[in-house]
Amino acid sequence: MAPTAALSLLTLLALPVVAQDVTYFEIGGNLDLNPAFSGEITNITWKHKGNIVAEYIKDSIPLEYLGDLKGRTNVNLTTGVLTISNMSQSDGGLFTVEINNRVLPVSYNAVGVRKLDDYPVEVIMRPLTCHRSSTECTLTCWVDLNEAEPVQYFWKKGEAGEWEEGEKVITISQETWSFQTITCKVKNPFSEKDSDPAVNPFH
Ligand SMILES: *[C@@H]1O[C@H](CO)[C@@H](O)[C@H](O)[C@H]1NC(C)=O
Ligand SMILES: *[C@@H]1O[C@H](CO)[C@@H](O)[C@H](O)[C@H]1NC(C)=O
Ligand SMILES: *[C@@H]1O[C@H](CO)[C@@H](O)[C@H](O)[C@H]1NC(C)=O
Repeated sequence: MAPTAALSLLTLLALPVVAQDVTYFEIGGNLDLNPAFSGEITNITWKHKGNIVAEYIKDSIPLEYLGDLKGRTNVNLTTGVLTISNMSQSDGGLFTVEINNRVLPVSYNAVGVRKLDDYPVEVIMRPLTCHRSSTECTLTCWVDLNEAEPVQYFWKKGEAGEWEEGEKVITISQETWSFQTITCKVKNPFSEKDSDPAVNPFH
């Protein structure tokens, strides 16, 4: 029994490791997936969540599009690049491609991200810590994170200060708060947005 068990474990380990890169797309925008294939493409199949979205076999099946994404999908038969327009969050998920009957060891996990444009970014001061007689002040760079992630946070001390990457929540002591205002910025792969400057509460 032992050799069989060892063999099946080896078989499991030998399965191709599928690299699953996360590819972010803008909600309402295009998704472009590039299989980086060089050579002539004689057949290609793109799948979304296991269902065929586009298929082509040279001299046999002309390029055709299937399923929900039909009408918004394009495959470039020279490069293999898949483009889907007007993406919604539910159009995301796992995409895989097979070219010339070879499953490429790459699949794509497509995740939608919305632009931050229409949503406020605010510096929120914790009322218990941010007033004249407190010794330090806790500030939160607040934004509605629904479909906005991944995000990075930046802070600027004073109107003429430099933007510095930081945490969502920061603490500044009364002693080190030598500037008039503090502003935060939120950035994601497709947009960025600043808060209004928040005024030094210790003055
Ligand atoms: C396919 O992609 C290549 C390289 O980007 C481009 O030159 C060509 O025009 C594209 N073909 C179509 C039909 O769009
Ligand atoms: C894009 O998709 C949304 C639904 O997700 C639809 O309401 C809208 O009309 C579409 N826009 C275009 C230009 O097709
Ligand atoms: C797909 O392409 C490969 C390599 O070019 C070829 O050997 C194979 O026969 C093709 N498959 C079909 C179904 O045409």
